[in-house]
Amino acid sequence: MEQQKIEALLGEMSLDEKINQLFQGNGMFYEGESIATGPVSAQGFTEQTIRETGSVLSIIGAETVKKLQKAHMENHPHKIPLVFMADIINGYKTVFPIPLGQGAMFNPEMAKTGAEVAAKEAAASGIHVTFAPMVDLVRDARWGRVMESTGEDAYLNSVYAKALVEGYQGEDPKAPGKIGACVKHFAGYGGAMAGRDYNNAELSERTLRDDYLPAYEAAVKAGALLVMTSFNTLNHVPSTANKWLMRQVLREEMGFDGAVISDWAAIEEIKNHGAAADLKEAAKLAMEAGCDIDMMTTCYANYLKELIENKELDEKLLDEAVLRVLELKNKLGLFENPYKDADEEAEKELLLCKDHRKKAKEAAKESFVLLRNKKMLPLKKDEKVAFIGPYVEEKSIIGAWSVFADEADAVSVKEGVKNLGIKAIFAKGCDSLAPGETIHGMNKKYTNNRSKADAEIMLGEAVDAALKADKVVLCIGEHMAQTGEGASRADITIPKHQKRLLKEVARVNKNVIVVLFTGRPLDVRKIKEVAKAIMVVWMPGTEGGNAIAEVLYGKTAPSGKLPMSFPYSVGQVPVFYDEFRTGRYYDGKPTENRFLSKYLDVPNKPLYPFGYGLSYTEFSYSKVKLSADCMKSGEEITASVKVKNEGRREGAEVVQLYICDEVGSVVRPVRELKGFEKVWLAPGEEKEITFTITEEMLKFYDINMEYKAEPGKFIVYAGGCSDTENAAEFTFG
Ligand code: NOJ
Repeated sequence: MEQQKIEALLGEMSLDEKINQLFQGNGMFYEGESIATGPVSAQGFTEQTIRETGSVLSIIGAETVKKLQKAHMENHPHKIPLVFMADIINGYKTVFPIPLGQGAMFNPEMAKTGAEVAAKEAAASGIHVTFAPMVDLVRDARWGRVMESTGEDAYLNSVYAKALVEGYQGEDPKAPGKIGACVKHFAGYGGAMAGRDYNNAELSERTLRDDYLPAYEAAVKAGALLVMTSFNTLNHVPSTANKWLMRQVLREEMGFDGAVISDWAAIEEIKNHGAAADLKEAAKLAMEAGCDIDMMTTCYANYLKELIENKELDEKLLDEAVLRVLELKNKLGLFENPYKDADEEAEKELLLCKDHRKKAKEAAKESFVLLRNKKMLPLKKDEKVAFIGPYVEEKSIIGAWSVFADEADAVSVKEGVKNLGIKAIFAKGCDSLAPGETIHGMNKKYTNNRSKADAEIMLGEAVDAALKADKVVLCIGEHMAQTGEGASRADITIPKHQKRLLKEVARVNKNVIVVLFTGRPLDVRKIKEVAKAIMVVWMPGTEGGNAIAEVLYGKTAPSGKLPMSFPYSVGQVPVFYDEFRTGRYYDGKPTENRFLSKYLDVPNKPLYPFGYGLSYTEFSYSKVKLSADCMKSGEEITASVKVKNEGRREGAEVVQLYICDEVGSVVRPVRELKGFEKVWLAPGEEKEITFTITEEMLKFYDINMEYKAEPGKFIVYAGGCSDTENAAEFTFG
């Protein structure tokens, strides 16, 4: 529809109709295709609100969506279609590794493929918009939502943000098989203090701008249709009421012209924060701040009219918000085709199809990070291997946010091993939850009803299995529901009963390989003490078991690198590689000097840093070479390094480029990732990787809050991990 027609449509809408466009409810407001009056009146709404509502969330399925849309169109005074939105995070029915695992792939193209698959499947089921990508920078492993992010680095997150938006939306979100992207959570939600979900964030404006904002901006620049607000406060202002954040930073500075949606009930929560006296004030603040859509509260629907009629709120703001919602519908092509791709036949053909499963398996394989390998892996087909642990048969391996997928569709480790035609010993040893334990997942409850006595028998069986084997592959880790929204943990070790399994198994078999399932970096010290190999497999998704078996048996070498540091202990958290230099730097060597920036009981460095990960082969690096040792403003130089596969197996290495600005008008990080390239190398093969260094890469917010590069010395590092010392220097300016 032409812009003029949209504006004309807005002009024809009544005040109520406009306000109702901004309400987003979920399935509780509908019974089949008619309006569920109970919840409507419980919310203080009239049926008219729902009849004229602008969008819905979490209603899926081609048949349902089509019926609801048809009924809606028939009843709507201006025949304005609904937008169907949902959380399609790491997949719809075919599930890819959790986003943190995708970060570990260091392969944004593959993440883009994952988003394309998710979009195709979701579109066939009637979804128009996904609440993804989540690009919050995460540095605190206690926070359960780290699993939804691609990690602790601003550059890595930005590259992924762009790739994911492109994957979902393609060139045109209207096109078949494409859906709109909603980048979230704006802004700084990953800074939730002490890793406690929904907690506030304390970020200086510089940290916000240098580290947290780039990924949202990358998604905006890639054309994301929507932005979602965050639950936290910034500078003591709830994001959903933060005018500076949404009107100045997002719209003016980043140039965002799409729609802003509140997070679930976040407008109402402005009152809970104590930043509004009542819901009416909350509605006013959110509207003034530039939040267009109210997800799941009554604030806009019940109070905007009164605010406007009493001249406490300018109707112009409402019109702007409604226009953005209408424009969103237009960008999605819904005025021409309100059903978009919803199609039962396409659902049958696409959901969980062979091609999607194959892609999910490839992604899973690339996401695994080998932390340790003392000549244990890969396994040989003729070795006697016992697969032990709660994750051997577990299908809850798709990640907490895969709320529309069926866990039963996932391939377990046992199935994966059998699919390779390998005969192994299998024993559970224990459940992922302790006997009697219950955990509430995102959309279901998990309970372990096994008695303690039965659990003891199971443990005994595992020890017997371990005794019979040459090697033990111990599949342990957090429960899938122990990460995700509302799943913060203060203890980031594996559950206690699984530690016992580890101990008992390691007592009788010294060749323990731990396959670690997790949604967050864990403290793995205890595991490292007894396991000769550790491979992190995150929550690997639908094809998890096949991917794990193929990597364990060496069909493919592991090639992931950590997108988030694995701390030495929870006491170090937040711990991340691009920290600041302190005035009392501690180099980690034994010292009697008390007055250095260090702990008395643990090292400063994480156990495994950002960018770390082994392969089944080894790589060597030539010294990094710069094309020039000085660079003037507006110029570019290159940094080159040769990487060679020194082993006898094929493998991939992620060549990483870091830059350190030695002296700045404000303190600069010890180094920052500025580029990376993943290369697969045959045995003995060598490749030269060249990175271009531009002035843009050297910029930051200086002492006057100007974004620019300062003259001076820069150190360039290139290698296979964030701790590489392979360096060269140049001067800028
Ligand atoms: C709350 C979460 O914070 C957000 O990420 C999600 O998209 C919405 N709920 C909708 O489910």
